[in-house]
Amino acid sequence: MAKYLITGTAGFIGFHLANLILEQGNEVVGLDSINDYYDVNLKFARLAQAGINRDDVSWSRFAQSTKFEGYRFFRKDIEDKDQINRLFREEMFDFVIHLAAQAGVRYSIDHPGAYICSNVVGTFNILEACRNYPVKFLVYASSSSVYGNNEKVPFSESDNVDNPVSLYAATKKTNELMASAYRNLYRIPSTGLRFFTVYGPWGRPDMAIYKFTKAILSNKPLPVFAEGKLLRDFTYIDDIVGGIKAILEQQKTTQPPALMNIGNHSPVTVNDLISELENCLGRKAVIEHLPMQQGDVKATFADISLINSYCGFTPQTDLKTGLRKFCDWYLDYHAIR
Ligand SMILES: NC(=O)c1ccc[n+]([C@@H]2O[C@H](COP(=O)([O-])OP(=O)(O)OC[C@H]3O[C@@H](n4cnc5c(N)ncnc54)[C@H](O)[C@@H]3O)[C@@H](O)[C@H]2O)c1
Repeated sequence: MAKYLITGTAGFIGFHLANLILEQGNEVVGLDSINDYYDVNLKFARLAQAGINRDDVSWSRFAQSTKFEGYRFFRKDIEDKDQINRLFREEMFDFVIHLAAQAGVRYSIDHPGAYICSNVVGTFNILEACRNYPVKFLVYASSSSVYGNNEKVPFSESDNVDNPVSLYAATKKTNELMASAYRNLYRIPSTGLRFFTVYGPWGRPDMAIYKFTKAILSNKPLPVFAEGKLLRDFTYIDDIVGGIKAILEQQKTTQPPALMNIGNHSPVTVNDLISELENCLGRKAVIEHLPMQQGDVKATFADISLINSYCGFTPQTDLKTGLRKFCDWYLDYHAIR
């Protein structure tokens, strides 16, 4: 049994990962500021699924899970360096999985400051705390968006990523450089994971699959950019958290690469995505065509040979199966059936 800090556990990926790590019998401290970038009720509902009662969530003390004995949650902002250092000093974590961030490409066009605060300053504070109170291993979230509009596909970790097309991507690339400096200077072992468009139950309302489902079910027009020809490597949440689990297992014997893609290696167009969703929901979509948006990239496509050779990662869930699971969850969560 090991002791983990997972940041961003009210968020989509952090919620799923915390459940998996807890089910293995580990101790987890979950941390999240529960910001209102999207509906906080969804964040509290995720926490409730893991036994963290909304009324117990506080900025000044831990909330104890009623479902997992080993789970405590603290509402904290990673921008608060003193609080983060204090948490590390008092808890002495074995592993840190840093997922808290201001996510979303489009929001970064109008709200650049949020990305500098949470992603650059926040990640700096996590790295500093790992330096002050050493941990066995740090895993942190990067993003496929670092590849920008690179023409060569699939995207490989050795590709040049010096041309971000959004500040979000620039902050994720910054995180990779910061972690690299901390590894070289202070021997803090870490790996950054470049996630490729993650989806599934309890997913994010700001992402296409959630938005499209909502629009189809309410007969509202779906905003579709660039004629629906953008390609995305949609990756199912269970494959993502299973991959992180495999990395944590493998790092006990072999030092992981500094950066790894984690994606489905099977991109589809947005038009194909909409067809699959129409099948799942038994309804036709009303499409509103819009030009490509600033910050968007034309394609994402993960080369997963590095993570595959490191820990055997192979995605198990095709889009059809994953979308069915997402739609089932969506209909239940919104009490539509
Ligand atoms: N979901 C994807 O497709 C995807 C793709 C690429 C990268 N990522 C990265 O993976 C990570 C997790 O993404 P997600 O989809 O779960 O996003 P999410 O927004 O659901 O979760 C992130 C959580 O971090 C919290 N947070 C933000 N700023 C904070 C701060 N300053 N202090 C404490 N908590 C803070 C938010 O409240 C949120 O609950 C993020 O780093 C994101 O950038 C996600």
